[in-house]
This record gives sequence, C-alpha cells and structure tokens, in this order.
Amino acid sequence: MPIGAAAPSGWHPHLWHPTTQVATATPPEQVVRGEGAELITADGRRLIDAIGSWWVTLHGHGEPSIAAAIADQARRLEQVIFADFSHPPAEQLATRLSRLSGLERLFFSDNGSTAVEVALKVAWQWWRNRGSERRQLVAFAGAYHGDTFGAMAVGERSLFSDAFEPLLFEVARVPWPATHWQDERVEEREAEALAVLERLLETPTAAVILEPLVQGASGMRMVRESFLRQVERRVRQAGALLIADEVLTGFGRTGELFACRRAGIQPDLMALSKGLTGGFLPMGVTLAREALFQGFVDPDPTRTLYHGHSFTANPLGCAAALASLDLLEGFPERHRGMEARHRPHLERLAGHPGVRQPRLLGGIAAFDLVVESPGYLNPAGKRLQALVRHEGVFLRPLGQVIYLLPPLCIDDNQLERCYRAIGLALDALGEAP
Ligand SMILES: Cc1ncc(COP(=O)(O)O)c(C=O)c1O
Repeated sequence: MPIGAAAPSGWHPHLWHPTTQVATATPPEQVVRGEGAELITADGRRLIDAIGSWWVTLHGHGEPSIAAAIADQARRLEQVIFADFSHPPAEQLATRLSRLSGLERLFFSDNGSTAVEVALKVAWQWWRNRGSERRQLVAFAGAYHGDTFGAMAVGERSLFSDAFEPLLFEVARVPWPATHWQDERVEEREAEALAVLERLLETPTAAVILEPLVQGASGMRMVRESFLRQVERRVRQAGALLIADEVLTGFGRTGELFACRRAGIQPDLMALSKGLTGGFLPMGVTLAREALFQGFVDPDPTRTLYHGHSFTANPLGCAAALASLDLLEGFPERHRGMEARHRPHLERLAGHPGVRQPRLLGGIAAFDLVVESPGYLNPAGKRLQALVRHEGVFLRPLGQVIYLLPPLCIDDNQLERCYRAIGLALDALGEAP
C-alpha cells in the first residue's frame, strides 16, 4: 500500500493533527494568512479568530513590530547552544520578566508543558538538595498543565491522560471552587476546598501547583481572587512551594500582566508560554525565586538541574518576546480594557435560555450550554462551532463550554460580530428538534 493511501478524503496523507480523531472530525481548513484578528483561508474566506489560536495569538496575527523584531534578529543570530553561551536578547528578556514577575531567575524551555515540567523538577530537586525529601505534590481537581508526562500527572485524570494512567505519578488533589455570575454557593465550596487543602498540607508537601484564577482546558473555570489568597496563606504556613501555571493567564489575559498580580499572590515558581512571544514562536519559561536557584549552586554535581532543550533561549523567540512586552507595557489599556468590552455582550447573552453560568475575567468570556451530560465529548459545542463558522467566526468550544479569548487587536465591530454569531447559533440550537 502506498504511504498515506489510507487517509480519509480531505485529510493530508502525511499529517497527524493534535487531539484530533480523524474517523469523526471534519477535515481541517487550509489557512494561508493571518491578519490582525482574522485568519484567511485558501479559498479567500475571512474568519475571526475568537480564541487566539489556542490562546497564543496575543496582539494579533502578523503583528508588524513582532514580525520585524524576529526578522531583524534572524539576520544577526538565529540560534546558539545556551549551555556554553549567553546572548543579549536572552539576558534582556530575563531581566525584564524578573522585574515584572518579582521572580529573579529565569529558565528557558520550549512550550507550556515543558515550562511546567521544569517548575516541578526545580521544586522537587530543591527539597532533595536540602536533604529533606518532601514527596507530596498537591494539585487541583480539573487542572490541566500540559501533555508531557509530569504535566499530565499533575493535571486531572481525563480523556487526555487515560491511556497513560499507570505511568503517571500520584498527586494529592483539592477541589477547585469554580464560580460564575450569580453564584450563591461559592463561599461554601471555597471553604470545603480550603479544608481539604489544610488536611493535605499536614503531610510534608514539596509544592502546590495551580492555574491562577482560571483553569483553562477544563472549561474556563474561574475562581475568586480572595480564594487564591487563602490558598497562598495555607501553602506558606505549611512551608511548601507555590507554583503558578500562567501558561494561559500570563501576559494580560486576565486584565493584569499576570493573574497572580491581579489576585495579589506571589508564587515561588511561575510557568509561562503561549502569549510569551505574542504567539509567534514556541517558547516556555519558568521563573523562580532566587533562593530556589541558590539551592542548586554547589560544587557537588548531583545538585545541578540536569534539564535542557536544544532550542533553549532561542534568540528569535527572545526577540519576539521582547517586542511583545514592548506592546504590553506600552499600551496596557488594551489588555486592561478587554473585560469592559466583553461585559455588555456577555450580559446580553446571559439572558438567553440556552446559556448557563456566564463568567468573565479580563479577555476571557465563557458560559456553558444547557446540556444533560456535560463533558469534553458533549457534541453541543461542536454544533455551535459549525454554526458560528458560517458567520465567519472561529471558536473551539470545550465540550459544552463556549468561550471567547480573541487577540487584543480585535475591533468593536469584530467583537460584536462574534457575539451576534453566537446569539444566532444559540437560537438555532434552541429550535433544533
Ligand atoms: C495552563 C496550561 N498549562 C500548560 C499548558 C501546556 O502548554 P503547551 O500546549 O504549550 O505545552 C496549557 C495549554 O493549553 C495550559 O493551558
């Protein structure tokens, strides 16, 4: 049989797409350009990218200043081994992110999952280097931290990790008191979660990892800022480390540069990726407190952090990240203003009988469709996705959870079109037999 002969029609014979079941999915459409908030397909159709292409496209597709910074850097130094060398864009980025995050040390990797892996390794080995092995890791129910093994292990067990269950290490789990507009029972759920956390922290704990303010992949599940402050207090009392996975929430997505800043907490370790390069290039970073770094400084070679990737601190990624930070710091009103721009639209939708649990934080607006059996495989979101696509809007619901997370450059007219398309789709779904 020739290679690729078994590819169903519409699918490329040599590609394997992520999290995609070819037997049932619609074949992907070809995109040939990106312009601001829009994607342009091979047949010339324009689609508003209302989820920033898996939450990475921060300012907009093709943002000229980032494209220029990458091109300029490519002409000077495109890549160099980062074990024996350093270079100016890496140093500038480290200095800048340290100042912005309050965490003095920066370790480079390639994506969100690896940024989490590094945070876990640093936390684990730091205790070991001190001679006091703390063996418990605590994470939250519904967490998603990536698809590599360590990241999967701290994530909630799910459809994504089921096949690998026997290979994942044990993690203690705390309920996540997700909330939404007009939630009357949030305090009760928060108290329950804090009680579980307190009980678990009686066991010596290396680290507690969380997605600050919003759990993304499990359905844009938002918690109150005060809850995170309570969590931080208990983690400090127990002497454990706090890891903030800001892969989704970093770089203005919650209205502040970092969700931790919005919540008023200071983690010991922070994982960043996605918006780091404005969404132009794959890169991850793990920021750490100086005291953690110092815990690895020792003539004994076994105290070294033996972790590194071929493309560590890729100069093109660093240049993109610096240009992206110029925009974020130069025009903070753009990310700070997103919440107010979403609000009237979401308020209008919230009255629709097909909508439940509306919620909003910074540039992330979400709600659930009314369905009988919620979950990632629930088809209701897919039906809505197909309907809004006809209206020129690209969404990728998480089961029955519909959310918008558009690039910051989206204009009022485009945002209005997104919500109008959703409203029409909700009406159509409501009428379906
Ligand atoms: C909170 C969080 N952490 C980690 C990851 C993994 O990032 P990546 O897909 O770049 O490996 C994601 C991806 O969606 C995420 O949302």
